Amino acid sequence: MLLKNVKLNHQDERLDILIEDGVFKAIEKNIPEREGMEVLDCSEFLALSPYVDSHCHLDYVATYGQPRYNESGTLFEGIEIWGERSKEITAEDVKKRTSHVLKWLVAQGTQYVRTHVNSDEDGLVSMQAMIELREEMKDLIDIQIIAFPQLGVYCYENGLELLEESLKMGADGIGAIPHSEDTREDAVKSLHEIFKLAVKYDKLVDVHCDETDDGHSRGIEVVASEARKTGLGSRVTASHTCAMGSYNNAYAFKLFGLLKKAGLNFVANPTINMHLQGRYDSYPKRRGLTRIKELTEAGLNVSFGNDDIMDPFYPLGCGDMLEVLEMGVHAAHLTGYTQLQDALKFITSNGARTLNIEDKYGIELGKPGNLILLAGEGGYDIIRRHVKPSYSIRKGKIIAKNEQPKFTVFRESGPESVDFRA
Ligand code: FE2
Repeated sequence: MLLKNVKLNHQDERLDILIEDGVFKAIEKNIPEREGMEVLDCSEFLALSPYVDSHCHLDYVATYGQPRYNESGTLFEGIEIWGERSKEITAEDVKKRTSHVLKWLVAQGTQYVRTHVNSDEDGLVSMQAMIELREEMKDLIDIQIIAFPQLGVYCYENGLELLEESLKMGADGIGAIPHSEDTREDAVKSLHEIFKLAVKYDKLVDVHCDETDDGHSRGIEVVASEARKTGLGSRVTASHTCAMGSYNNAYAFKLFGLLKKAGLNFVANPTINMHLQGRYDSYPKRRGLTRIKELTEAGLNVSFGNDDIMDPFYPLGCGDMLEVLEMGVHAAHLTGYTQLQDALKFITSNGARTLNIEDKYGIELGKPGNLILLAGEGGYDIIRRHVKPSYSIRKGKIIAKNEQPKFTVFRESGPESVDFRA
């Protein structure tokens, strides 16, 4: 496939891109067409590496209202409802919902997703289904699977054994949820144990960490310390870390020293945590997000995720990473012009770093020929006008194509089309 006159992000000059045998073969001016070659005129397009959803719960998707709606909007009612819904879970149910919703992600430019999958089920039904889907959907999307002890490792029988079993089955990484354990001691112990398993099986770590407005929730210091001591470093991710938004600055200052030494990744889920957090506050009401701006300025890697799409924990969502980004830049005060121009990194390159896939991610010679094409100018313009990808290309093949919406106003003098570009 030959893409003619493409604009690459942060570059003014338009170039041609040749993808052959599934990889980028040439990126330069005036690549000649050859007979039989598929050629796409990209003179109106900006090319980006595909979006990365760094944190999603694919096994929950599209279950909103089953068996009932979450009317309080709290995490705790969500957990209660999921407890009821999960009794009916079957592999067929997980695969049907997940494969349907994955197409929403793909159509909107995502080609990489990290999913947390419940490992607290007898028979690990969802885990088995997701491992099969990872293979069945690989023509559209790369799925990375983290075994997730939703209720807490020590809050149900054989929690640790089921996590280990998930790794043996083929999960790519292991998780924990220290703030949900009954005691601080169990929280710390759960982290020590999952890091031991990650080292033993050579797996990634991604912890649901301090997803609470309780400023005394400090699982992050243990996660960072383990990341440093085990040497796993950038193979470790702390997801959510909402409590960081409630820490006093004296503690946060000390903590940041450790975080920099540990070199771990952070994932924020702006839509979900704006929805779930602050529920026990009156006024002032906290935003409940981690310190996205400060972590970024400290040189730490932060990326964004959908987290939940129409499930007991979050009613909305269409799997659109731009919507997540838009919420994130508002909630984190990243709305300076330069910050907006740069913000796509939270759903592209930073996500690739979180997923540890940098060796195969990016529009560079020799890497898989994956990219999206958008009729937009750059971060600022894409976020402001919510420009969705016109094409998603994977290994040199079109896997998604979208018509852009057209708007018209009608006046006495006749119809006028509306252009949202200033
Ligand atoms: Fe999550």
